[in-house]
Amino acid sequence: MTEKEYKQLVDEELSRSFLLEDSYPVKGLAEAMRYSLLAGGKRIRPILVLEFCKISGGDLQAALPAACAIEMLHTYSLIHDDLPCMDNDTLRRGRPTNHVVYGECTATLAGDALQAEAFGTILRSALPAERRARCAMHLANAVGLDGMCGGQYLDMLGEGKTLSEAELDEINSRKTGALLIAACLMGVAAAGGTLAQEEAAARYGAALGMAFQIRDDMLDVLSTEAELGKPIGSDREEEKNTYMALYGAEKCAALIEKLTGEAKNALAGRFEDPSLLCSLADSLATRRS
Ligand code: IPE
Ligand code: IPE
Ligand code: MG
Ligand code: MG
Ligand code: MG
Repeated sequence: MTEKEYKQLVDEELSRSFLLEDSYPVKGLAEAMRYSLLAGGKRIRPILVLEFCKISGGDLQAALPAACAIEMLHTYSLIHDDLPCMDNDTLRRGRPTNHVVYGECTATLAGDALQAEAFGTILRSALPAERRARCAMHLANAVGLDGMCGGQYLDMLGEGKTLSEAELDEINSRKTGALLIAACLMGVAAAGGTLAQEEAAARYGAALGMAFQIRDDMLDVLSTEAELGKPIGSDREEEKNTYMALYGAEKCAALIEKLTGEAKNALAGRFEDPSLLCSLADSLATRRS
């Protein structure tokens, strides 16, 4: 399958999530969840799950719920990231942010529910029990203290301060890298791949994740709102520590190139055909949105 076909598969499967009848009491919450989940998005994390599953010899259909689950989790992180108490942004995926449309309480709950539904989606899937558990473990590891939430906490504490390169790396490997690593690991785990494959997948995910956040920081300065689907200059407004502020565009681009090479190298010899993952890393290095 191509990247585009994977995205379509994921989009179709996600569109069947949380469809409730009009008379159902929590229909409004489901609507808020679907609003952000189905607003578009590149679907990078589910594509990583599916392709790592494939090149580890696994069954795509069986891994599809786990792929959708990580997108639910990611969408929750975006809804909360945009809240007034966090980055205070009003545009996401080309639409007004969740709290702008549904209010802060509903947006908070939509994020909370998406997180729980993500784990439920993995645990209810048809994968063998051990693989389900392993996928859920990888996801939990990526989201908690040592993962996304920890990173978001440090990101917030760092606002208005000048952090060192090491401190910035620490924030970004948690807030963004951890979930991208989890996507890769979940793909291998869904296929019942080897520990050596998981280790290679994690190294790919770590380098890709670092490059991904550096590019995100660049786009916050260099892109346009129309192209990016989120506000430009948000980081500066919130006095965030970013790679752009620390290094400038040229050094950022060089770092991304180096990390992209590292990501691709990590896969060599461990998987039969890592070509899609190599071209994905290349295209993310110069992405415009
Ligand atoms: C944005 O993630 C948040 C970061 C971790 C930098 P994406 O760039 O993957 O956002 P979508 O899913 O395509 O909207
Ligand atoms: C957020 O990083 C990472 C998350 C955990 C959502 P950013 O705050 O830079 O993400 P954007 O730029 O708002 O998408
Ligand atoms: Mg943020
Ligand atoms: Mg943000
Ligand atoms: Mg950003």
